[in-house]
Amino acid sequence: MKNLKAAILAAIIFYCACPRAAAQAPLYKDPKASPAERAADLLGRMTAEEKFGQLQQLDGLWEGDYRKEHLELAREGRLGSTLNVRFAANVNILQKEAVEHSRLGIPLLFAFDVIHGYRTIFPVPLGESAQWDPELAGKAASAAAEEAYSVGLKWTFAPMVDIARDPRWGRIVEGSGEDPYLGSRLAAARVRGFQGADFSAPGKLLACAKHWVGYGAAEAGRDYNSTNISRSALRNVYFPPFKAALDAGAATFMSAFNDLNGVPSTANKAAIAGTLRGDWGFKGFVVSDYTSVKELIAHGLAADEEDAAVKALSAGVDMEMVSTLYRDKGPAALSAGRLSLPVLDASVLRVLEMKFRAGIFEKPYIDPALETKKLLTPKTRKLALEAALKSLVLLRNTGGLLPLGPGLKKIAVVGALADSKTDMLGSWSADGKPADAVTLLEGVRETVSPGTEVVYSSGCSPSAGTDEELAKAVAAASEADVIIAAVGEEASMSGEASSRAFLSLPGRQLELLERLKKTGRPVVAVLFNGRPLELSWLDANIPAILEAWYPGTEGGRAVAQTLFGRSNPGGKLPVTFPLTLGQVPIYYAHRSTGRPPSAAEKYSSKYTDSPVEPLYPFGYGLSYSSFTYSGLSVTPAKIKADGKAIVKVAVTNSSSRSGDEIAQLYIRDAAGSETRPVRELKGFKRVTLSPGETKTLEFELGPAELGYYYEDGFAVEPGLFGVYASGSSEGGLEARLEVMP
Ligand code: BGC
Repeated sequence: MKNLKAAILAAIIFYCACPRAAAQAPLYKDPKASPAERAADLLGRMTAEEKFGQLQQLDGLWEGDYRKEHLELAREGRLGSTLNVRFAANVNILQKEAVEHSRLGIPLLFAFDVIHGYRTIFPVPLGESAQWDPELAGKAASAAAEEAYSVGLKWTFAPMVDIARDPRWGRIVEGSGEDPYLGSRLAAARVRGFQGADFSAPGKLLACAKHWVGYGAAEAGRDYNSTNISRSALRNVYFPPFKAALDAGAATFMSAFNDLNGVPSTANKAAIAGTLRGDWGFKGFVVSDYTSVKELIAHGLAADEEDAAVKALSAGVDMEMVSTLYRDKGPAALSAGRLSLPVLDASVLRVLEMKFRAGIFEKPYIDPALETKKLLTPKTRKLALEAALKSLVLLRNTGGLLPLGPGLKKIAVVGALADSKTDMLGSWSADGKPADAVTLLEGVRETVSPGTEVVYSSGCSPSAGTDEELAKAVAAASEADVIIAAVGEEASMSGEASSRAFLSLPGRQLELLERLKKTGRPVVAVLFNGRPLELSWLDANIPAILEAWYPGTEGGRAVAQTLFGRSNPGGKLPVTFPLTLGQVPIYYAHRSTGRPPSAAEKYSSKYTDSPVEPLYPFGYGLSYSSFTYSGLSVTPAKIKADGKAIVKVAVTNSSSRSGDEIAQLYIRDAAGSETRPVRELKGFKRVTLSPGETKTLEFELGPAELGYYYEDGFAVEPGLFGVYASGSSEGGLEARLEVMP
């Protein structure tokens, strides 16, 4: 008996000490093992159904709740991720089903579109881009991540890095505009902001570079429309911001809705398996866009649901958002050999590995107490104010009408947008609350001197306005010293599925402006909009125009502080504003043509009924200060293809007011194996200069800036380069650089 007891005890001791016995706790649960080892171990334990389950992302309810069926799916291991489910009360309950009640305990990844802020709303991305300040954009992304994390989120579908050159496309508001260089700088900054150095850390999110790829080139600017993009444009224009996001460590990519040269992006093997994974070595996972797997049928690429599932998965789209074809049709396709097991396993591994890297196996739940501590703090509001201030672009300021002086007796604020909290927030305002937003009217009221009377009359909104309302506004304005007219678009007029066939001010707004002008009172137009608009009438008739985009929670305050000179506008356009719709698509980095526009030559590339020049070029923006550029130098003036030159230029504030200037560096590759754009942005710096101050700015031009993709690769071609330094994409100082053979 004694011996038996001793034997049992010995067995227990052996069992505990023996490494093989310890393997009872599976390797995938060991935080010390690498994510790859853990994922491989876990994969080996999964049924086919569980594998497809990890590739399924489902939508919750817009208010943040999960759907009832999610509980069961999570318990059965048939759900990998959700979008829109948020708040500790929902997230923790659903997560518990996955972590504690499913066979393998794989946590869910909670995603949400945190695009320009979560609760504290920053300017829309196009407005943020107008700051030309990647560091600030990174700070906003980081603040948004911290807020979003506090409500249980771990993944954002941002940054949106699509280059867009057609303002009819409503989603131009969500990106950085038309330029690959500016777009790349911002893409990298936003990824770093969301993810930090280690995205498993509390307060950080996985980023998602979207929409891969070419979505912004939708034909005729109509959302979801097909795209036809040359290889050269893909590699030199549309890819670079994605590559920058990847290099900055973006954990995930989203496949786009669009048909790309005949193969929809969501089944585009060349783009996903080829470029993204093959050429660039992307190790994260790719999620489809909302039902874009199922849409392969409507595209005419897939014959039926199974075909769609097989084609998307085989192209490398790992996770299916909302449609359920992988889950529903995958198992049969697998058994019949139409879907290969290695393809399925590779996708599952990528998703699992990312979940391990995200740290959610160790920290699946969110502390409910965080929610109240992290949202809309004085610190985030302050950052939102700074962001809004820096995003404003002064388009016109005839006779120095702005800034408005302190001695005004009466100011009329006109236009429904001046008092619309919702419209301050913009198109993807996550859990931003209109009530938190400061409107322009509120901003003006808190900024004016005590002796100034402020009268407000809505007149019209972009979508409504009666004769009486217009007449009332005009009457109210006709006695004011100055009229501030808020015009533009409602926030819902841009963004997804909000393409427009016209770029004019919608509704009766132009009529309102015409009548305000007739009062003879000076009019300041403040624009709230998500795309370049056709502003030629305004430019000819309204002395001061301030582009405010959708400036976010602190937007109205920022605009008012700028109108009254407490802040000096310094933003510049990240996108060209056409003179007229017929010029679209119009962008500064176009090629030359063999017959460049010439007034003297009929047979040159121009219109018979409109100038070819835009109203406001890319990079343009005024200030209450004025700046001069001098002393542009390029040293050395001749380099080898692998060499580097230093460009120096002095920028002087030649006014009596301190202000910001965004100095821009452009090149032109004069001749090459392929024709190159007439100008390409290759550097910029936003600097603050006090009155009379001069700063000498330095830029580097090396292979990364001088090269481009042609034939089989990226290279710098010998020859002459023009080098330009200026405050916009037009004009400026010019120098030369020669790349020697
Ligand atoms: C959009 C994506 C977005 C997704 C989830 C889609 O309709 O195209 O940009 O991330 O919805 O909300």
